[in-house]
Amino acid sequence: MKSAIRITEVGPRDGLQNEKATISLEAKVAFINALSATGVQEIEAGAFVSPKAIPQLADSEEVFSRIERKPGVIYSALVPNEKGMERAIFGRADKIAVFTAASETFNQKNINAGIKESIERFEPVIRQAKAMKMPVRGYVSAAFHCPYEGPVAPQKVLGVALELLALGADEVSLGDTIGRANPDETRRLLDLVLKEIPKKKIVLHFHDTYGMAIANALAAYQEYQMVGFDSSAGGLGGCPYAQGAAGNVATEDLLYALSSLGAKIPASIEAVAGAAGALIPFLGHALYSRAAGRAKGQTFPS
Ligand code: HMG
Ligand code: MG
Repeated sequence: MKSAIRITEVGPRDGLQNEKATISLEAKVAFINALSATGVQEIEAGAFVSPKAIPQLADSEEVFSRIERKPGVIYSALVPNEKGMERAIFGRADKIAVFTAASETFNQKNINAGIKESIERFEPVIRQAKAMKMPVRGYVSAAFHCPYEGPVAPQKVLGVALELLALGADEVSLGDTIGRANPDETRRLLDLVLKEIPKKKIVLHFHDTYGMAIANALAAYQEYQMVGFDSSAGGLGGCPYAQGAAGNVATEDLLYALSSLGAKIPASIEAVAGAAGALIPFLGHALYSRAAGRAKGQTFPS
């Protein structure tokens, strides 16, 4: 039987947080509505973070209130603290994602807290989410390399991931925030974490700075049967607190790569490329994916 891939489309959050142009509320809502029709199971539709830290996503409440929610699709959001949780509840997010890192310096720059302090901040947030039966994701950024500290030990990543799961997170997303990981590093991390964390609770989040994201995802899929991936339509993305990072692996490229190897993919490559393509006039630059612009009218394995 073909393995069924699970995609969390992070374009509206990771993608748009890193754009220079101001993307209008209407364009964001249209992007998310188009993504809802592609077949992806989950869409990270915004971030309830400080508008000073990420002005691009300051309108996340309005975005959540205006999107057309497709039944069965999960609309999630980043939440850094209790204030963010209040906003997520107001916006009726289906799921929240708290985020910390396996590197102290990156975490300080990103959320102005050390790892331990950030996990303490998440405790009441996760408690509330659990009380409301909201699923919770925990991100572990800098899971391979830190833009400030260099290579990160897999043991450190495992430790942070286990703490998030112990607090009640339903899954952890391990992030190659600056897109420097290679397949050997992917194997080393998975060899370790899979000893202690069930596969279904691990999601992989590859950025594509050096063109390694597909190679990493394929190593994880083929050798470890990993099926949970984060990706971004058009390959948009990056973190303003991780200089030099490029976008996420493009959803359409990842879907192509996995389906060409026999995986059962949830979404239409053409529809994802179309959703990203509609954003081009607002972005002021081309998309970063290989498939976008070429996918229209093509037949793909599914
Ligand atoms: P802080 O300055 O330490 O927070 O920031 P604070 O509690 O002292 O509050 C300062 C001000 O922010 C106050 O306002 C608060 O009300 C306000 P003021 O009194 O100055 O007017 N504030 C908020 N406003 C709205 N919503 C909130 C909120 N919280 C405080 N939730 C904080 C700490 C975490 C808030 C800040 O550093 C922040 O928002 N950081 C977010 C950074 C971010 O979003 N980075 C990108 C996402 S992470 C990523 O991209 C990696 C990932 O993709 C995985 C990977 O690739 O590895 C997930
Ligand atoms: Mg990211």
